[in-house]
Amino acid sequence: MNVLDNYLELNRRLWNERTKHHLKSSFYNLDSFLNGSSSLNEIELNLLGDISGKTLLHLQCHFGQDSLSLGRMGANVTGVDFSEEAIYAAIDLAKQLKQDARFVCCDVYDFPKHGKQPFDMVFSSYGTIGWLPDLEKWASVVAKSLKKGGSLVFVEFHPVVWMFDNSFKQLQYSYFKKEPIVEEELGTYADKNATISLTSVGWNHSLDEVIQNLLDAGLSLVQFKEYEYSPYNVFPEMVEVQPNQFQFKSMKGLIPLVYALKMTKQ
Ligand SMILES: C[S@@+](CC[C@H](N)C(=O)[O-])C[C@H]1O[C@@H](n2cnc3c(N)ncnc32)[C@H](O)[C@@H]1O
Repeated sequence: MNVLDNYLELNRRLWNERTKHHLKSSFYNLDSFLNGSSSLNEIELNLLGDISGKTLLHLQCHFGQDSLSLGRMGANVTGVDFSEEAIYAAIDLAKQLKQDARFVCCDVYDFPKHGKQPFDMVFSSYGTIGWLPDLEKWASVVAKSLKKGGSLVFVEFHPVVWMFDNSFKQLQYSYFKKEPIVEEELGTYADKNATISLTSVGWNHSLDEVIQNLLDAGLSLVQFKEYEYSPYNVFPEMVEVQPNQFQFKSMKGLIPLVYALKMTKQ
């Protein structure tokens, strides 16, 4: 069977399983979040600015920590994710926190069927588009979901990171690889010892693919930045070079790990 025929089912199974472990993980530190800490990082906070009173669509919201952190900053948030486990948990967290947020369970590509009004902002971050085969479709969902003059804030791991093999010791994939990357996942980035052994199907998207598709969908680039660190210790053999800034021990300062952009719909 062509992997494109069942990537959604394979990945949904993986994310449902990951979510159960993530909710208990020290990586996501749910207690601290429930006690008021924000799960957002300086990189996205700098691009978001004042979001108070804005309607905001959070694509691939996982179990809602970032969505609810955005809600705490005064935004009126709708989160979207295709994992039932993640959306149940997000709704439950919003209830516990007595926060007014909406969560929709669907494939990103199907969101326009569920969304009524366009939003002031669209937000998506860290580990999202690598699960999507077609960025033209993604960019069109972003553009359709934004009001005229509305902004996209997008932060993602740099495509250079996905050129490496699983141990991040040597280059394995072309920067321009178009075919899906199919892997057997053992554990998860948030809990390496989690008893998960499932197939994942992902894609590496080059920077030109991301930016050109968003430009073609009618957005204009306002800010773009690359970072030599990740705010998350999610890859093997990373060291903390500054508080909350992680780099590969063997490639300190040599490669970009994250990029961030802000674009506005004309
Ligand atoms: C790395 S996580 C989200 C990142 C977020 N920074 C976090 O850590 O909470 C990626 C999310 O994308 C979701 N996802 C993957 N493919 C999707 C699709 N086709 N439609 C909607 N959600 C999808 C997964 O369920 C998962 O919650």
